[in-house]
Amino acid sequence: MKNSATACRITGVGANLPERVLTNLDLERMVDTSDEWIVTRTGIRERRIVNEGTNTYELALPAAREALETAGVKAEELDLIICATATQDRYFPSTACMIGHGLGSGDAPAFDISAACSGFIYGSSIINQYFKGGATKHALLVASEIYSRIVNWKDRSTCVLFGDASAAVVFSAADGPEGLIDTCIRSNGEYGSFLTGGAITRAGDPLSGALPSMGENYFIEMKGNQTFKVAVKSMCDVAQRILKENGMSVADVDLVIPHQANIRIISAVGKSLGLPEEKVYSNIHRYGNTSAATIPLALYEAQKEGRAKKGDVVLMVAFGGGLTWGASLMRL
Ligand code: UT7
Repeated sequence: MKNSATACRITGVGANLPERVLTNLDLERMVDTSDEWIVTRTGIRERRIVNEGTNTYELALPAAREALETAGVKAEELDLIICATATQDRYFPSTACMIGHGLGSGDAPAFDISAACSGFIYGSSIINQYFKGGATKHALLVASEIYSRIVNWKDRSTCVLFGDASAAVVFSAADGPEGLIDTCIRSNGEYGSFLTGGAITRAGDPLSGALPSMGENYFIEMKGNQTFKVAVKSMCDVAQRILKENGMSVADVDLVIPHQANIRIISAVGKSLGLPEEKVYSNIHRYGNTSAATIPLALYEAQKEGRAKKGDVVLMVAFGGGLTWGASLMRL
């Protein structure tokens, strides 16, 4: 069993959702699908979509500001900024650098991480290690995703699944029982082809004049059935593992916040872990799959609804392209 003292705890959470709503009925007019298919197969009823031209860092800023305000932490007090995103605005500067600039966080180190839908869990794991190093007092973890930018809107098998959102969490140094108890992150590139996305870009050849055409051929491809099965198994395995390693069982957990990819995956994970429905949080019907943002967005809403309170033990568990998966266990 591991040491129960924590190195950091969550002191503020924020979220920013685009105002524009894309409903299943809207999608019925775009591709050969139906509200009935989408609801029964995924649980999604609507998702949010940014205005054309919105950048990932711009979507992140209000979420980050709200998290800082709730935490009572000034931007210039941040020792670290991490952005989890699969839809960064550019290869460089990183989205995190642009967020730091927008917040006025001075010269705090800032970088993006790429772990697709597991990005928030990967980020919390990195942040935990920074705090254990001792020099970090406040860190900002932002998950900001604009999947509407990479979705192929003619592909019904994927375009109905995703949405845009940003959510942010401030972690501050702690040494008591409240805080991040442990994290566990895993990957397996062997299954990378199950779920891939982004832009097809080619190396340029200035000698032959064959220069790459950027910004075309955006796509998401998923082997849905295979991904579904691995998602359920990986999330259950990592949830059980992190609890066991910390001398806890599902009975000690007040709320599980799983990645919101499909209501059937969420239910299967809850059932397999032996959890009652009320202990498994879901808001997928409102936002769809917002990749790295689903977990901090769910935490934000769970706190507002009084379902995640101070002192509660919360288990977050995610799965995504890579393949990547992982869990974060904390006492709020
Ligand atoms: O966030 C990262 C992790 N993501 C995941 O873990 C997602 C995992 N996978 C899934 O959530 C599900 O596999 C999907 C929601 C993607 C698909 O659900 P499914 O029950 O596995 O459906 P399927 O792919 O087996 O397709 C069943 C049928 C097919 O038709 P036929 O071949 O049976 O005639 C599809 O062509 O449903 C058809 N279909 C659709 N029909 C209406 C696929 N997409 C749609 C659609 N509307 N949007």
